[in-house]
Amino acid sequence: MHTPHLPGQPHIAYHDGELFVEEANLSALAQQHGTPLFVYSKASMLAALAAYQRGFAGRQVQICYAMKANSSLAIIALFAQAGCGFDVVSLGELTRVLRAGGLASRTIFSGVGKTRPEMQAALQAGIGCFNVESEAELEVLNEVALGLGLQAPVSIRVNPNVDPQTHPYISTGLKGNKFGIAHERVVQTYQRAAALPGLRVMGIDCHIGSQITQESPYLDAMDRMLDLVEAIEVAGVPIRHIDLGGGLGINYNGETPPEADALWCQLLAKLDARGFGQRALMVEPGRSLVGNAGLCVTEVLYLKPGEQKNFCIIDAAMNDLPRPAMYQAFHQIVPLQPRTTAPDTWEVVGPICESGDWIGHDRPLSVAQGDLLAVLSAGAYCMSMASNYNTRNRAAEVLVDGSLAHLIRARESYADQMRLEHLIG
Ligand code: LLP
Repeated sequence: MHTPHLPGQPHIAYHDGELFVEEANLSALAQQHGTPLFVYSKASMLAALAAYQRGFAGRQVQICYAMKANSSLAIIALFAQAGCGFDVVSLGELTRVLRAGGLASRTIFSGVGKTRPEMQAALQAGIGCFNVESEAELEVLNEVALGLGLQAPVSIRVNPNVDPQTHPYISTGLKGNKFGIAHERVVQTYQRAAALPGLRVMGIDCHIGSQITQESPYLDAMDRMLDLVEAIEVAGVPIRHIDLGGGLGINYNGETPPEADALWCQLLAKLDARGFGQRALMVEPGRSLVGNAGLCVTEVLYLKPGEQKNFCIIDAAMNDLPRPAMYQAFHQIVPLQPRTTAPDTWEVVGPICESGDWIGHDRPLSVAQGDLLAVLSAGAYCMSMASNYNTRNRAAEVLVDGSLAHLIRARESYADQMRLEHLIG
């Protein structure tokens, strides 16, 4: 049996009835490392990055991988070696970038709640830019920089008030979100920033949401950003770079988001048409670089057919794969070794003691106890959001490169989990 590649997952395919990531047989990996097990394709991540690089050929652009999507050191190192900078949202993330060999000078620091110690450490490391999210933060950053005798490079995150047409929890650029500075206050905020001696104005940024599958919200956001750049520069503050954030969607369930190069072809045409063709650009893609490159292998522990529902209980849970419980997100679930028997309809659930611990509703699957399944499109916002709820060890991670499979994170142990705790008395 030879089935073609799974849709949207170019490096994940069946060969002779067995599911592979690149040239690595997933059943063999599960046997070696246990389950649940995250497996990523290096080629798939580099191909996703190449789409951005193609789109930007000949332009002055810094691609800053939004590492919150998947913050494993080996993956950060992969993107650093491929020329990426990083978008971080905490000192913890910056520490990971530096540990993995990334450059602080190519790293931007986003987030609405940066603390003074985080600002200090980032300044001392030589951070490329702070994406400032409020007027109050601007004042604190100025004080911290002056205290160190430094100037902080800043960009101001503006809220372009466009609807990204995505899930409300992951839409960030509308009025009423906690992110960014309202349109109406942008020019005066830039004037204030330019007047503060501890700050050096570098750019402007926005991020309108995540899992965006249409081009139009980006085109609208770019128009609003360019209107703002014009107004800010008329007010006497030069803007060196324009950062359009991240947000490009992936294929979870047949979505067809634009390719990064096609999207940027349109955005660059708009920049050129409005006379901004030479302006330096930044982007902050997260999910679109890693999401479709990963999956989670899990074992069917028990089948529990019932009157109303049939439950397929797997050994991965909401602590490993939090997106269904948090956003009602859909992840495809496929067998590692497909059976030929007719499928039944299953509620695929984890072992955690919560009804919200489901991974897939009403899935047609032909399964037996002990089978291995793959939860697809699990490269982004799964392991990085994983928790220890129910004192479950976080899963191991493997990065596949052709026929080589590197264990990039060992399975956590109970000792690891309890290392920082103390009994009293
Ligand atoms: N830049 C900023 C300022 C962000 O807040 C984010 C994501 C990104 C870039 C990267 O966005 P991406 O390209 O990955 O869409 N946990 C949610 C997604 C939260 C996104 C948060 N911000 C999920 O699993 O769908």
